[in-house]
Amino acid sequence: MSEQPRASFGGKLSVILVAAGSAIGLGALWRFPYVAGENGGAAFLLVFLLSVLVVGIPAMLAEFAVGRHTKKNAVGAFRALSKRWSWLGYSGILGALLISGYYYLIAGWSLEYLLNSVTGGIFDSTLSFKEQFSEFQGSWKPLAWGVAFILITHFIVSRGVEKGIEKASKVMMPMLFVILVIMAVRVAFMPGASEGYKFFLSCDFEKAFSADTIMMAMGQAFFSLSVGMGCMVTYASYFKKSNNIISTSFNVSILTLLVSVLAGLVIFPAVYSAGLEPTEGPSLVFVTLPEIFKGMPLASLWSAIFFLLVVLASLTSTISFHEVLTAYFGEEFKLSRKNAAIVTTVVSIVLSAVTFTQLFGIDFFTVFDYITANMLMPLGGMFTCIFVVWFMKKNFMKDELTNKGVCNRYLAPVVIFMLRYVTPLIILYIFIKNFL
Ligand code: PFF
Repeated sequence: MSEQPRASFGGKLSVILVAAGSAIGLGALWRFPYVAGENGGAAFLLVFLLSVLVVGIPAMLAEFAVGRHTKKNAVGAFRALSKRWSWLGYSGILGALLISGYYYLIAGWSLEYLLNSVTGGIFDSTLSFKEQFSEFQGSWKPLAWGVAFILITHFIVSRGVEKGIEKASKVMMPMLFVILVIMAVRVAFMPGASEGYKFFLSCDFEKAFSADTIMMAMGQAFFSLSVGMGCMVTYASYFKKSNNIISTSFNVSILTLLVSVLAGLVIFPAVYSAGLEPTEGPSLVFVTLPEIFKGMPLASLWSAIFFLLVVLASLTSTISFHEVLTAYFGEEFKLSRKNAAIVTTVVSIVLSAVTFTQLFGIDFFTVFDYITANMLMPLGGMFTCIFVVWFMKKNFMKDELTNKGVCNRYLAPVVIFMLRYVTPLIILYIFIKNFL
């Protein structure tokens, strides 16, 4: 893989769509609503917004700089800049492995629900949606669907950076926005929806600034922006030198925030309208939404549209962490893209099976999620920020942010100041406060 000229994404819009494709996924549609539901709704949204601004965007920029400058996979990129820091690349690979251990399984749930919506089976059953969900969990189906999801991802990634990843994102991302807006409008007309808006849009400040909420919001920012585990390093290695990384990072973050808010505007009114509570946990989307669709005309159609949305969004994200591993195996072990993708796929299937079977009675699902979002990614992000401003040549970040003086001449010093004095300290502070 390393002998051929390195691929690159096309124009500005492609770069935004591909990076936003990675960012927008289960994080915004599945994780955000239930974590926000458990942490005070609007209060959480506010702290999440601040986290994206103060830690998410600077950390993303640090990753973009490392990836685009070196044009290598996560490990190769850090090693090319400094041998002593290559461990940061490995911590990214570890993160990608942990995420692969559970993300495909949840993405697989949406495939099952999509199929059952199309056939109408979900609404014909005599069981309640909660019972249907636990029956599904108790069967082998989740693993089968998880594997199916891995194989679909494999198919796209092995087609390559331009023909696979870029093409898929360009088709799927616009579809996703359209579907989400249609859903948000439809939900607004449901009886009782206003309770949901009230929950999602009125803020309890005391709750918002508790150590717990801040930690969860920061974890959500890293998870949702795909920052802190080498993913944006890998994607930026396919950016062109002329790309304006500051505007890319803003666009990606704004789109991610927009989709998270839209997801909240679909899910919370819908939950209240069905007389349910938003604190349902990970099953929130899968148990409460069918309940809501049931009461609507054309239930199967709305349900199918919604779960198609979840499938599309997840797919553009699974592609991205599959690519982190595929690029790593390909470049570090000199494998062809096809073979590197096969290795990644096999590893992902094994990890998903371990999580699914709860080997040794461990709930890997919760453990993997907590470790990646709340520990590995914030720490990975923090060290990446520290590395680029304190351990690289003085002008490294400035050159990357301004494309050697061409753009962003006024913004670059602000970002560098944040990277030096603000972002890492805030991450560290939140981290210490939460664990002491
Ligand atoms: N950002 C993705 C989501 O919100 O669903 C998840 C993710 C993708 C995290 C890629 C990390 C990553 F490297």
